[in-house]
Amino acid sequence: MISFILNNQLITTDRAFGVSLLDFIRYDEDLPGTKIGCREGDCGACTVLEGTLVDGKMQYKSIVSCLTPLGNAHGKHIVTIEGINMGHLSPVQKAFVDNAATQCGFCTPGFVMSLTAHSLSKEKSTKQSAIASVSGNICRCTGYKSIEKAAEEITIILKDKDIKDPIGWLVENNHLPAYFLSIENRLEKIDTSKSTINPNNTIIAGGTDLMVQRSEELVESEVELFQNRAELKGIKVENGKCIIGAATTASEIMQSSIIQKVIPDLASYFKLVSSEPIRNMGTIAGNIVNASPIGDLSIIFLALNAEVSLGDRIVPLKDFFVGYKKLNINEGEHVKGINFAISSKPSLFNFEKVSKRTHLDIASVNSAIILKMDGEKIVECNVSAGGVSPIPLHLAKTSEYLKGKTVSKETILEANKILQEEISPISDVRGSVDYKRLLARQLFFGHFIKLFPSKVNLKDLI
Ligand SMILES: Cc1cc2nc3c(=O)[nH]c(=O)nc-3n(C[C@H](O)[C@H](O)[C@H](O)COP(=O)(O)OP(=O)(O)OC[C@H]3O[C@@H](n4cnc5c(N)ncnc54)[C@H](O)[C@@H]3O)c2cc1C
Ligand code: FES
Ligand code: FES
Repeated sequence: MISFILNNQLITTDRAFGVSLLDFIRYDEDLPGTKIGCREGDCGACTVLEGTLVDGKMQYKSIVSCLTPLGNAHGKHIVTIEGINMGHLSPVQKAFVDNAATQCGFCTPGFVMSLTAHSLSKEKSTKQSAIASVSGNICRCTGYKSIEKAAEEITIILKDKDIKDPIGWLVENNHLPAYFLSIENRLEKIDTSKSTINPNNTIIAGGTDLMVQRSEELVESEVELFQNRAELKGIKVENGKCIIGAATTASEIMQSSIIQKVIPDLASYFKLVSSEPIRNMGTIAGNIVNASPIGDLSIIFLALNAEVSLGDRIVPLKDFFVGYKKLNINEGEHVKGINFAISSKPSLFNFEKVSKRTHLDIASVNSAIILKMDGEKIVECNVSAGGVSPIPLHLAKTSEYLKGKTVSKETILEANKILQEEISPISDVRGSVDYKRLLARQLFFGHFIKLFPSKVNLKDLI
């Protein structure tokens, strides 16, 4: 049985775990405010809030209901546009009206829910963060300027928000209905203990890959829900290693102070990965097991020389991908987590990605690098690249060549020759072979231009 609170109502259902939350909301519960657009996580028309009890306190985030398996709602508070009705417009809704930010209105519930999630966050509201919160919402008719103005107005309305108790503040100031205050106690009563894992069942974590590829089949399948398994979540440091649970989401990695110490610009790189709701759902294990040659997290963690924990076996991530969508994983095994060594020496990290759109798009080519320096000399190096081979590629020969070298035009040009021999791109919808080789070169140069701005510039390299 799946039990959760939908708006102000306790739901208990024996519907299949793999049914989409969107269909359940609209067709079982007859709540048509949540719209169906693409059903692929791209448009945001189906955005709802997911509230989770974390250490006894509610935390809300935006998710796309089209890719959420119903089973992932168990023990949660799901809020649709109907769930914020109060007999008057909420300040977010009013900002949309006042700024003419809605025309046909099809996308509007999704935008309103994303900005309501933004209001509920424990961060101060800024224009930048308000606009970032709608990174997963597309409007085809209003134009984004008026939506931007509405978002900006919301940041002004939220300027006095109590970031220690956003729910209390929002209820008190008529942003949310009062029932939000009762959710904590009501969710505590739902049993969220987990059963053992049946290795024959299909694993679903965030669902952002599987629910796009196999949504109909999943309704009929026996599935194992991984996203909320406590033993597969979290980020910690143990014996000099950073250990990340398999079901940790991209947003949780992006916000981790542990990982920010290794990659100070983490947030700016992760903003290039999908959109806020997809990052709130998609997990690290989902990204590597999906084995897309352009998976951004695979490329980032290849550069960090990560290892994959399969329980009894530990496999270096670079040996985990053995062919196009083929993995070094045995029947009955699943990913428990990944880890990478944290060095006491500071390192330099960079990630580059080129896609047709800057945001909410997968890469044509992406690349990451980590360098450890001893003065002028590179003592350790790992470079990875995606979109240039059937697998997310660790550039072993290029990395090896760079070790012991000093950073110079000659070193970079020679390393690029080796890189070009290591890659084997094919022409496809994301670009021709020549274009991808050019991108791989430019991104490789880009690493050095960014990390050594006083030593390297593009003019010298081309
Ligand atoms: C709109 C949109 C934009 C996207 N943009 C990007 C992007 O910019 N960059 C990018 O890299 N990706 C992107 N993706 C792809 C996707 O979001 C990521 O790959 C995500 O990390 C997948 O994680 P998940 O938990 O949702 O996977 P799921 O869909 O739940 O699972 C994916 C696969 O992994 C398996 N699996 C999951 N967990 C485990 C485990 N612990 N052990 C064994 N197998 C497991 C599942 O069985 C399935 O085969 C995008 C997806 C969408 C819908
Ligand atoms: S319907 Fe488009 S994101 Fe869900
Ligand atoms: S108002 Fe029509 S799609 Fe946005």
